[in-house]
Amino acid sequence: MEITVRKGRIEDESADAVLLIHCEGERRLAPEAAAVDARLRGRLAGLIESGEFTGRLNQVSILHRAPNERLRAKRVVLAGLGKRKDASLDRLRQAAGSAAKAIRNLDAKSFAVPVHDPAGFLTGAPAAGRVRDVAQALAEGALLGLYQFTTYRTERKDDTNKAVRKITVVVSDPRALAQARQGVRQGQVTGEAGTFVRDLCNHPANVVTPTYIANAARKIAKERGVRVTVLDRPQMQRLGMGALLGVARGSHEPPKFVILEYRGGPRGGRPVALVGKTVTFDSGGISLKPADNMEQMKADMTGGAAVLAAVRAAARLRLPINIVALIPATENMPGGSATKPGDVLTSLSGKTIEVINTDAEGRLILADGLTYANRYKPSVVVDIATLTGACVVALGTHAIGVLGNNERLIGELKTAGEQCGERAWQLPLWEEYYEQIKSDVADVKNTGGRPGGTITAAAFLSKFVGDAVWAHLDIASTDWSDRDRAYIQKGATGVGTRLLIQFLSNRANGKRA
Ligand code: BES
Ligand code: MN
Ligand code: ZN
Repeated sequence: MEITVRKGRIEDESADAVLLIHCEGERRLAPEAAAVDARLRGRLAGLIESGEFTGRLNQVSILHRAPNERLRAKRVVLAGLGKRKDASLDRLRQAAGSAAKAIRNLDAKSFAVPVHDPAGFLTGAPAAGRVRDVAQALAEGALLGLYQFTTYRTERKDDTNKAVRKITVVVSDPRALAQARQGVRQGQVTGEAGTFVRDLCNHPANVVTPTYIANAARKIAKERGVRVTVLDRPQMQRLGMGALLGVARGSHEPPKFVILEYRGGPRGGRPVALVGKTVTFDSGGISLKPADNMEQMKADMTGGAAVLAAVRAAARLRLPINIVALIPATENMPGGSATKPGDVLTSLSGKTIEVINTDAEGRLILADGLTYANRYKPSVVVDIATLTGACVVALGTHAIGVLGNNERLIGELKTAGEQCGERAWQLPLWEEYYEQIKSDVADVKNTGGRPGGTITAAAFLSKFVGDAVWAHLDIASTDWSDRDRAYIQKGATGVGTRLLIQFLSNRANGKRA
């Protein structure tokens, strides 16, 4: 997708469509919309007056240019932002996503959109920063909204032939041009990070194996400042990664432990460590999952994919920060030599783990990833994982769970989540919960029973973080969508990607909580 920024007037743009955003229940048009409407002899205002277009969030209406009208674009697409008092950058992202999809359905190949301000976004101080945010939200919403996963369709190609190829973001004020360029760049990199993760998760597990992940990481290492190391099974055995190897035992696919290092910050500066759960397919192992919805477990690698994408985005944005990404990758399968309930594994840390349920595999591979992170003396460690079904019960499908041992770090992640539209909510990690993961035969056991399942999983992880400042993101409730939404399609959502990029950007810019 080509997204360009240009100084100019929206009414003079020659694209297949012009996109304008409007607030619900308002008669007055934003100046850019009014300028377009002047060329349409007031037909936009008429559409609103008639009540046909109310401006309800994600509502889309289309007006065609009449032969005698002096508009360069063929059509005008009006998209609703909802009520002014509820306006937010995420609603803007949604409106852009809904409109972009409607434009594609028209078989239009290009559209132009002004960095306009129907809801008074840009009037609050500091105005310049808001131009960047608005431009970013427009680019992100369009890119994510237009995402489709059609690789394996050989029939029903009709809808996939339609594609928007070019978006022009138009700025009327020359002083806002640089900000708009920055925002579009940020939105493009972040949006592409999101679609990259969705692709990795939507591709089936017979394609995306741990080996495939390792190769994807090698490609990312072609970016400036990125280095990759891939450990294979014999190397893991020598190191003593017994927890990760214990999960991998039941599968014919060889596990990989991927390390990506990005150095954009000061030489010798302590890195941010990111650890991402990468189970390319989670059958449950010997504690086999029920068949219903098991196919969704091809996305049990969202955490690792988000970490890969965040490193790639950091490199592309040249963020001044050091990062080390650790990606333990394996399948969880019930093969003849699979780990059995009751087996005891010796983790990289030396701690022994009694495996009660082989379906609690994510915490096992993260245990070794977290231990390995300590080698880098990281400033903070953040892990991200589709870890517990209990997270869906606790928070539903609209919040990421966040837990950890440092309130400031948790606060940073919550703030980043609000900024980027992938919000996180904290659950407690009190010492009382540790009782549930005491083992009779080993140092710790891998399940804590039904009560507080997300919390006892995090309690387990905390045993492997050493003295690091650490937080854990549970994305099990948000990584998959059962329906199409404004900028999220049915299937893998790529959640966590924007959150990690926002968190890294904030840190790189010295904005810590
Ligand atoms: N990958 C699953 C968690 C999951 C469930 C992610 C639903 C996305 C949607 C994880 O490995 C798992 O199976 N967890 C178990 C833990 C239990 C055995 C303690 C669970 O949540 O049931
Ligand atoms: Mn599992
Ligand atoms: Zn899993």
